[in-house]
Amino acid sequence: MFALPAMGSGRRLCVVLLVAFVAVLVFDVRHRLCVDYLGALRLLADSASKNVILGDCVVTGAESLSSVLTALSIADSAELFAPHWEESVAALAGATPWLLAPDRIQSQSTDAALPDEAVREVLRVAQLVSDDPDLRLLLWHCCRLLYEHLDYPAQMVTRWPNLDQRLGKDSPLFYFLLTLASVCLARQKHEELGIPGDVACANAKNVFGHGERQVLTTGRWGTEQRLLPWMRNHTTGELFRLGRLHFMIRPFRGCVRAFRNRESGAVAALAVDGTRFVEPGILLHGKVAEGRRAWVASFSEDGDGYHGVPVSPWGYACEEEITLDRSGWEPALTPGDPMIEVHIPGGGGMTVERVRDAMTHALDFFPRYFPERPFVGFVCTSWVFNARFSEILPPEANIRQNQEQVYLYPVSSGGRDGVYFIFGTDVVDPATSPRDTSIQRVMLSELEAERPLLTGGMFLLLDDFSAFGKQAYRGRWPFEVG
Ligand SMILES: CC(C)(COP(=O)(O)OP(=O)(O)OC[C@H]1O[C@@H](n2cnc3c(N)ncnc32)[C@H](O)[C@@H]1OP(=O)(O)O)[C@@H](O)C(=O)NCCC(=O)NCCS
Repeated sequence: MFALPAMGSGRRLCVVLLVAFVAVLVFDVRHRLCVDYLGALRLLADSASKNVILGDCVVTGAESLSSVLTALSIADSAELFAPHWEESVAALAGATPWLLAPDRIQSQSTDAALPDEAVREVLRVAQLVSDDPDLRLLLWHCCRLLYEHLDYPAQMVTRWPNLDQRLGKDSPLFYFLLTLASVCLARQKHEELGIPGDVACANAKNVFGHGERQVLTTGRWGTEQRLLPWMRNHTTGELFRLGRLHFMIRPFRGCVRAFRNRESGAVAALAVDGTRFVEPGILLHGKVAEGRRAWVASFSEDGDGYHGVPVSPWGYACEEEITLDRSGWEPALTPGDPMIEVHIPGGGGMTVERVRDAMTHALDFFPRYFPERPFVGFVCTSWVFNARFSEILPPEANIRQNQEQVYLYPVSSGGRDGVYFIFGTDVVDPATSPRDTSIQRVMLSELEAERPLLTGGMFLLLDDFSAFGKQAYRGRWPFEVG
């Protein structure tokens, strides 16, 4: 027992509570070994200065960024890790980050359906990182930069260095630990939003996908730095896996605006003013090869109607300008309109039925949990919607069959889009790369013929969803062009 100096009962109560609070805090940090994520953030917010005092443990921010990075042989990455470094040091207070706790890793791995050999690998590397104060601190800092400081640029995350000197071939598993941490943070966020646990579990499978991709390309589990920013979408409670697909609400950013015929219900898209197309009506980055025709679309509207260059549902822009008269046509989709953005996790099997089921799920989910966020349809931007695939993939290919159900439009492309997703690397050699599947064969043939591999966009408006499976747009395209 200890005596309190003479003071009023109110003040005494305050002091008792304060002492109890500090005791709990010290116990928590020093004896549980693993810092709770939110607890650490609260601790950080409560500290009056950048130094945190915990009993006899005074953390001064002495673990200087340069000493840690030099020890890890990544001193030239100082600029990448400088933001919020001291806050991270203070928030960790010398403890072990929660994302390295074996029981946390086990439960997150179960949600992500990681196979046993992957869990063993992750636990092994987590132990290596736990035992190494430099790696431990860097991992914690990366976790905060990635998931807490959302204004920390994604491009900087993609430039985070490999940790080959300290971890050798285990370096990708260091970053995999960050991917895995998203499982717990996403679950926490979903709980706040009142979203059932099975959605968080479904989201967690994305972690499996990232790890599996690395296995396919390198034979070992891990995550590439370029994939890390994507995991933010899970933890902010914006991206949800519902059936075969991921969805989130975002403004429409395509190069078209769509109009609906008041009588027939047909939809026609006109290109946004100033869009520069290249034959055969596609969008390409950079300089256009000599001799290749290019044109700039104009769009205007007046009392008569909407004047512009049509983009057909097959995904190509035309050159001839047309007018959609105001009495017959009304706007149906304009850049900036809220849409349910579709993202395609790996795993194949993207049949039209599964896509329809997933979209049906989304149409129930978003109004239920985000009633304040209306939307006008679905949109997707992906190599999967490369309009050329409707011509060169076998008719039974899911990619082709899904393209037939939506309205395609051009998206600015680099010319080798999708290669990474199909071959696991950005660089392929048509002479030696695998040709086991039809998509591999058509991609390599396109490259051999020096035809660009494009990204494409698609939209599907809410009013047309009931016709998904019946080629709503191509079947009712009202013009001769296309
Ligand atoms: C998009 C995706 C789901 C389509 O898979 P799918 O439903 O099997 O598509 P299809 O039926 O049209 O496939 C056509 C052919 O390509 C093959 N194929 C599909 N995806 C493949 C892949 N990732 N690697 C190699 N071949 C693949 C199929 O096996 C099929 O081959 P076959 O005709 O010789 O039998 C699949 O490619 C995938 O999981 N990709 C990774 C995720 C991705 O790229 N997301 C988009 C990011 S922008």
